[in-house]
Amino acid sequence: MSRIVALPGDGIGEEVMDAAIRVLGAVYPEATVEQHPIGLAAIEQTGSPLPDSTLQAAAGADAVLLGAVGGVYDSSLAAADQPETALFRLRQALDTYANIRLARADGVDVLLVRELVAGIYYGSRGTRPNGDVFDTCEYSPQAVRRVVRRAFELAASRGGRLTLVDKANVLETSRLWRRVVDETRTDYGGVSVDYLLADTAALRLAVDPGSFDVIVTDNMFGDILSELLAIPQGGMGTLTSASLGDSAPGIFEPVHGSAPDIAGRGIANPAAMIGSVGLMFELGFEAPAVATRIRLAVEAAEARVPTPDLGGNATTHAFVDAVVEELTAEPFSGVSAAT
Ligand code: NAD
Ligand code: IPM
Ligand code: MN
Repeated sequence: MSRIVALPGDGIGEEVMDAAIRVLGAVYPEATVEQHPIGLAAIEQTGSPLPDSTLQAAAGADAVLLGAVGGVYDSSLAAADQPETALFRLRQALDTYANIRLARADGVDVLLVRELVAGIYYGSRGTRPNGDVFDTCEYSPQAVRRVVRRAFELAASRGGRLTLVDKANVLETSRLWRRVVDETRTDYGGVSVDYLLADTAALRLAVDPGSFDVIVTDNMFGDILSELLAIPQGGMGTLTSASLGDSAPGIFEPVHGSAPDIAGRGIANPAAMIGSVGLMFELGFEAPAVATRIRLAVEAAEARVPTPDLGGNATTHAFVDAVVEELTAEPFSGVSAAT
C-alpha cells in the first residue's frame, strides 16, 4: 500500500488534482492520499509557499502528485515570496534532478530529460550597485553527469538515440555538457549520440518531432523546448511529466501551469494530470500495466467527450466521469494484482 501526497496548488491545479484523485480511487483504492497546500494556496493558509508540513509530508511519501502553482504574476512580491519558489525548493529538497517530459502520438515518441535542480534557476542572481541585474547559469560536472547518465539509461531502454541540446557555440556550461556526454557515451556503446544547438532544436521539434528519440538538456532549455512537445501530443492539457531523483519520492505533475485564464470554470483538461498519475505507476511504482490502462482510458475519454481545448465541450467533471467509466468497464483486479 502506498502513501501518496497530493499537492493541488493553485488555479486549475486544484481542478485537475480532484480529477486525478478520482482516477486513483478507481485503480488503487488501497492507497492513502494526503493533500497539502503549496503555492498561493499555502501562502493564504500559512504565509509560506512551501510550509514545513507540506515539505515533510512530501519527503516521507512514496510519490508526490503536484497540480500547478502560481497565478497572475505579482511584481510587488519579493522573489522568495513568489508562489513558484515552492517548486524550486521542493525539487531541490527531493533532489529530483531528472524531469522527464513525454510526447507519444502518431509517428512521434519523444522523451525529453530536463535537468531540474541546477543551472540558471539556482545560480546567484541579484542587482549590482550600479543597477545592473544578473542571473547566472552554473553547472558542476557531477550535476551534469548524473542527469546525462539517466538519459543514456533511458535511451538504451528505448530507441537507442540520444540528442544533447545546448548552445555549445556560446556557453561555457554547454561545453561542459558536451564533454560529459562524450565521456559517458563510452559506457553506452548501443546508444547513438548527436548534438543539436538549442535554436535549431526548437525548429526541428516544431516541424519534425518524430525525428527524436531521447533529448537531454539543461534546466532552462528544457523548460522552454519541452512545451513544443505539446504540439504533437495535443496541447498543454495533455503533456505529462515525472521528476525523478535517485531515492526520494518522484514528483508527478502536468507540464502546464495554473492557467488563470480558465481557472474556476470547470473546463480544464485533466488529461495531463491523469497521465502523470499513469507515469507514477510506470516510473514510480513499476506497475506499467496500470499506466497503460490509464492511458487507454484517457484516450477513449478524449474520443468520446473532449474538453474545450481539444475542440469539444465537456467539462472537467464529465471527462473524468468518462475516464472512470472506462477504467471500471472491464474487470480489473487493481494495482496489487498488476504489480
Ligand atoms: P499555463 O500552462 O498555466 O497556461 C498556458 C495556456 O495553456 C493557457 O491558455 C491555459 O488556459 C492553457 N492550458 C494550460 N493547461 C491547460 C489544461 N489543463 N486544460 C486546458 N487548457 C490549459 O501557463 P501560464 O499562463 O504561462 O502560467 C500561469 C501560471 O502557472 C504562472 O503563475 C506560472 O508560473 C505557473 N506555472 C506553474 C507550473 C507548475 O506548477 N509546474 C508550470 C507552468 C506554469
Ligand atoms: C515548469 C514551470 C516552472 C519552471 C515555473 C512555474 C517556475 O514552468 O515546471 O515547467 O520554470 O520550472
Ligand atoms: Mn515550464
